[in-house]
Amino acid sequence: MDLENQYRGWIKQIKDALDEWSSISISGDYEYVVIAGMGGSGIVGDYLDRLSRVYGGLPVVVVKDNYVPAYIGEKSLVIAVSYSGNTHETISFVREAGKRVRNMVIVTSDGVLADIAREKNYVLVTIPSGFVPRASLPYMLYRILGVLDSSGYSIVSRGVAEESLRFLESEHNGIRSNARRVAEYIDKYKRLLILAGHSPYEPLLVRGKNEFNENSKIPVKIECAPEWMHNDIVGWEKPYSTDYAVLSVVDPDDSIGLKLVEYMESVYRELGIPVYRIELKGSSFLDKLMYGSLLLGYSSIELAYKRRINPLVTTSIAKYKEIASRIYG
Ligand code: F6R
Repeated sequence: MDLENQYRGWIKQIKDALDEWSSISISGDYEYVVIAGMGGSGIVGDYLDRLSRVYGGLPVVVVKDNYVPAYIGEKSLVIAVSYSGNTHETISFVREAGKRVRNMVIVTSDGVLADIAREKNYVLVTIPSGFVPRASLPYMLYRILGVLDSSGYSIVSRGVAEESLRFLESEHNGIRSNARRVAEYIDKYKRLLILAGHSPYEPLLVRGKNEFNENSKIPVKIECAPEWMHNDIVGWEKPYSTDYAVLSVVDPDDSIGLKLVEYMESVYRELGIPVYRIELKGSSFLDKLMYGSLLLGYSSIELAYKRRINPLVTTSIAKYKEIASRIYG
């Protein structure tokens, strides 16, 4: 299936995850959640971290690494996410973490991680195969939210998740056409893109960067207020070049975030750097996160079309994965 159709399937992915919302629950007494994963799977951890900060629930620690934090033990609810199940760092993390915890949750479509889960009797959340990891974001995210909710560790309730589905369904066509305008803006300037926004939307900026990297094949720099005002801002006093274009992402209902980004936009404009602003829609944080994710996803695909590039293939990641086992030994 081409990438655009994989993204068009997001509504169905959320519906499917809602159908299976309570199908798996876990027992145990946990103090925090650890989500391990890389790239398009690891971003699910970033989203869960922010969702737990906004909605409540256990704190979430994200590990995008093979390195297992020293504090991991029986009080950690470990969830390893790898779409393919064959990512070296995540497999290595699971093997090491397995020495410290009796049980964990493995979210995967197949591969070595599915084998480990069956062999060790870990909780296995199976993701449908045939997609690229980044296109499976809704399914992976909503399945984990469902497992947490039905295990007494809710971050997002079923009602909030259902509402986000209705919202995304109603906005889909508008998002698709907004994405064309975003891609036109980026392609018009052909400069290094700065994707900027405000807290608590850091994961959306990371996701957007990854989308433009993997789908459009361009590098992207990200900045997020208020941290942006405490370091990066000084770099604009004497930059080597002003050959950048800014894509800012704001939540119009967040008056502080909006003012911070407006201030940041004025700094760029004074330097003659163009700015294009995206306003997030929705009535909940989850709505806005999903709205932004789909908009940036479609924008990155649209930009690939404009550049006559296949958004689906990620040759460099495949090449890296071939040598990763040799590097890690
Ligand atoms: C996203 C993508 C990569 C992978 C990453 C980890 O579509 O292709 O970012 O997500 O290389 O692989 P998985 O997700 O299979 O563990």
